[in-house]
Amino acid sequence: MKTYRIAAIPGDGIGTEVVAAGIEVLNALAGREGGFELQVDHFDWGGEYYKKHGRMMPEDGRDQIRDHDAILFGSAGHPDIPDHITLWGLRLAICQPFDQYANVRPTRVLPGITSPLRHVDGDELDWVIIRENSEGEYAGVGGRVHQGLPLESATDVAMFTRPGVERIMRFAFRVAQSRPRKLLTVVTKSNAQRHAMVMWDEIAAEIAREFPDVTWDRMLVDAMTMRMVTKPKSIDTVVATNLHADILSDLAAALAGSLGIAPTANLNPEHTYPSMFEPIHGSAFDIMGKGVANPIGTFWSSVMLLEHLEENAAASRLMGAIERVTADPDFHTPDLGGNATTDKTTAAVIEAIRGAND
Ligand code: IPM
Ligand code: MG
Repeated sequence: MKTYRIAAIPGDGIGTEVVAAGIEVLNALAGREGGFELQVDHFDWGGEYYKKHGRMMPEDGRDQIRDHDAILFGSAGHPDIPDHITLWGLRLAICQPFDQYANVRPTRVLPGITSPLRHVDGDELDWVIIRENSEGEYAGVGGRVHQGLPLESATDVAMFTRPGVERIMRFAFRVAQSRPRKLLTVVTKSNAQRHAMVMWDEIAAEIAREFPDVTWDRMLVDAMTMRMVTKPKSIDTVVATNLHADILSDLAAALAGSLGIAPTANLNPEHTYPSMFEPIHGSAFDIMGKGVANPIGTFWSSVMLLEHLEENAAASRLMGAIERVTADPDFHTPDLGGNATTDKTTAAVIEAIRGAND
């Protein structure tokens, strides 16, 4: 029997509710599947921790989770703490030093879910967005001087390295190659941003030669938003910079029916460090404590966690259970227009896991 060590970091807001649901589901799955079990360690890091200790996680926090097999993360964000502090103090403080450079965001219209686009279902809209997750606009390079004076100035420098672009490009081509359509769209803004974005385009063309079976095209990010809305079926795998993909993935989540469903994997593909899995939605303080957070984003992220551990049978059992549950509007939470609670949806997914014969 294999034992996986999972670090659970629920964080703030509805993060605590959905991560608890995710752990319940993962345990049910381990029980149903046999062959592996989970040892879950909980870490109370986040906004409340910051209020007590003046930092989002302990100084040796990363050492505490360094040897875990995976991290299940909820969200970071607190109404009393500036967003850039919660982000840099926890999520990026884990992603960047653990070199989780590939952020993977699958988007699909699941059974029973209605896209705001007319006539669009899972056949039309089935994408994977690959977000560069270690540099670019999130490199943290920049500064601010003369604060409060007329001369006040600030820079946020987007920094791109050749190895950084090569590795995300190679990763994206591999993902595209693994999918039936073998189709990749490389997104940049190389008309206006004439240095780093032109380098992206050049590196894309170089790496493409290693993948002759993948069809690829280039798209400017503004035009890409239109294509996502007007020609969703023409898209399969997408690779973009940290910020561009951040924005495109919110659009993708909305087009697929709800931000509450969308999952993410922050991968260190080499397994040198643990990878981190999280729903895309934030801490959503407006619905916190009401028990109505949609746990599906966390469940789908758990599917990605299991795939990363190469527990593929468990991963596909969980994905099947999710799809059976979303197909029934009785189990839709308010973000999907229903009135199910987090617990009700979670119980339904667990029942679907237990009941599945395949
Ligand atoms: C995301 C989120 C984060 C990001 C926020 C919470 C800082 O929007 O994961 O897409 O921009 O990376
Ligand atoms: Mg985002």
